[in-house]
Amino acid sequence: MTETIIKVQKLNKSFGSKQVLHDISFTGQQGHVIGLVGANGAGKTTLMKTILGLTSAQGQITIDGQPSSFNHHEILKEVGALIEYPSIYPFMSGRDHLKLFAKEPQRPQKIQNAIAELHLAKYVDRPAKSYSLGMKQKLGIAMAILNNPKLVILDEPMNGLDPQSNKDLRLLIKAKSQTGTTFLISSHILSELQKIADDLLVLDQGRIIQKTTMQDLLAASDHYLVLSTSNDNLARQILIKAGYQLVSSSELKLRISPNTSLEPIIKMFDHQKISILDIQHLDEGLEDSVLKLLASDQKELEGQK
Ligand SMILES: Nc1ncnc2c1ncn2[C@@H]1O[C@H](COP(=O)(O)OP(=O)(O)OP(=O)(O)O)[C@@H](O)[C@H]1O
Ligand SMILES: [Mg+2]
Repeated sequence: MTETIIKVQKLNKSFGSKQVLHDISFTGQQGHVIGLVGANGAGKTTLMKTILGLTSAQGQITIDGQPSSFNHHEILKEVGALIEYPSIYPFMSGRDHLKLFAKEPQRPQKIQNAIAELHLAKYVDRPAKSYSLGMKQKLGIAMAILNNPKLVILDEPMNGLDPQSNKDLRLLIKAKSQTGTTFLISSHILSELQKIADDLLVLDQGRIIQKTTMQDLLAASDHYLVLSTSNDNLARQILIKAGYQLVSSSELKLRISPNTSLEPIIKMFDHQKISILDIQHLDEGLEDSVLKLLASDQKELEGQK
């Protein structure tokens, strides 16, 4: 049985008269990667800061069975985080940053591991003021995972990372989650998030509008077949007559369910001497699914006005 590492119940947060988090509740299981998505200003960073006790809010937060709040945050020792931009001291080296944050036991080993895992060796002994955006980001991630925390909270970790570093980070998160670390990760790069997240929280204007597993979300998303044939006009007529849903006037693109068989289509085409030149399967990814969810939520909100 998997263990609940983070439990958030009925979290409400206002800045002055503006409420930015509304009744946020969710749980995160041990070893899961939870993706947090939503437009600019949706409340992702505020939610993460609240979990980290950096800002006060109403509601309950439990981490590994222990309550955590603005004034009671012993358990946050078990949490590593990178929020927005890493706090970096310009005149200290990367290694000094790691030394400052590393806790016993096995401090030197932890520092060595973090340097290796984030590939920092080339510049870790230089003062941090000479680091590029991506180098700072990688140092920030190294600081977040340094003490092998049970929960790691990363706000936009792919910010400024080059493609190779992105891939390295993805593999690192996968490997750590497989050994039991739980991650809460916000990102606007949905194609990257799709590759690592097990669960997904979609936030819109401070409300969770979707809580799902990545697998369920993608299975429920639309699937398409794009055909190219020796006679597309005739093929189109045949497909429409047979009840297929064509979604484009410029190409033979049909919406299908994931288990649709190609056989009846091939038979009908064969009968009319139409040959198939190319077949492509297209799956709507996380990006399309999230955009659709946000658009339908907008419509609902406008309807309520
Ligand atoms: N310190 C603050 N004082 C007042 N309002 C704030 C403060 N911090 C955030 N907000 C407001 O709270 C809302 C949520 O902001 P937040 O930074 O959590 O969004 P986000 O989802 O992280 O956005 P982004 O994708 O741009 O990082 C916004 O309306 C923002 O203006
Ligand atoms: Mg943010």
